[in-house]
Amino acid sequence: MFPERRMRRLRSGAATRTLFAEADVRASDLVYPIFVEHRDEAVPIGSMPGIERLPVESAVKEAKEVEELGVPAVLLFGVPEEKDDAGSSAWSEGEAVQEALRRMGEETELVLMADTCLCEYTSHGHCGPLNGGTAPDNDATLEALERVALSQASAGADFVSPSGMMDGMVQAVRSALDDGGFGEVGVMSYSAKYASGFYGPFREAAGSGFEGHRGGYQIQPSQRREAQVENLLDYEEGADVLMVKPAMPYLDVIRETRQRFDLPLAAYQVSGEYSMLAGAVENGLLPGEAVVESLLSVKRAGADVVITYFAKEVAESGQVA
Ligand code: PBG
Repeated sequence: MFPERRMRRLRSGAATRTLFAEADVRASDLVYPIFVEHRDEAVPIGSMPGIERLPVESAVKEAKEVEELGVPAVLLFGVPEEKDDAGSSAWSEGEAVQEALRRMGEETELVLMADTCLCEYTSHGHCGPLNGGTAPDNDATLEALERVALSQASAGADFVSPSGMMDGMVQAVRSALDDGGFGEVGVMSYSAKYASGFYGPFREAAGSGFEGHRGGYQIQPSQRREAQVENLLDYEEGADVLMVKPAMPYLDVIRETRQRFDLPLAAYQVSGEYSMLAGAVENGLLPGEAVVESLLSVKRAGADVVITYFAKEVAESGQVA
């Protein structure tokens, strides 16, 4: 008790604070998302300062820079030239994601992850074919996801990452990969993904005019227990990595997932979290340290890996080891 117990001894200098730090953010914990498309020039994403949709060539260059900075992984999203009801260009060999995977596989040692979903590829912007309904037809979507996963794996993805919150998606993708001879390719499932307003800026990034909502398939924000059922199902279906998404508004869910499961856990600091922080820093409303603090909150909650649009900037800034 006071006056003997004085907590400030643990904070008395920079080296002391470093020594006793309970959590840290390292470049090697981060995954950098990259948007690719077949186009001659980069297209800035207005709602995400500093982030662009990149031609394959520039995406490969960006990946090399990220690798130099010690960030070990990228997560690729593709924007197609043509969209249709079924999202069928998602599994086309010539699409930007597949080409970027092949090139990055040749030119880097990065862990290559690909978002395995149809929402960037469907004309209506939902995560799978609607077949007359207002939300994707679950089982028809699974067939499409199997094709997407196979095409990503054959282009060189180390991890496919189903993100559509379809029931059975991990099992479908896992068995398609195994049957296709891609037993070594992992599945990082967006296992606990919420129907979140924080994905707003992503819609611009993904070139999707989507204005509806995904409450018919993603978890509603009020749910805590339901997220653990989702994690358990994906664990049992064979996911190699679990994920909670978004990150900051769901730190309780990250914590609880960490306590219940021993698989690696990723948390996705999504586009809206990025825009909020990047916009505030850009406008002088917040100091830059707030960014690392936000990443620390996610690590402290229990995530092993953070997928963040800040990965490159933070690694570059020298604020992390
Ligand atoms: C596709 C997908 C989305 C995001 C990642 N994969 C959009 C959505 O579900 O609406 C969001 C990523 C972000 O906001 O940064 N299903």
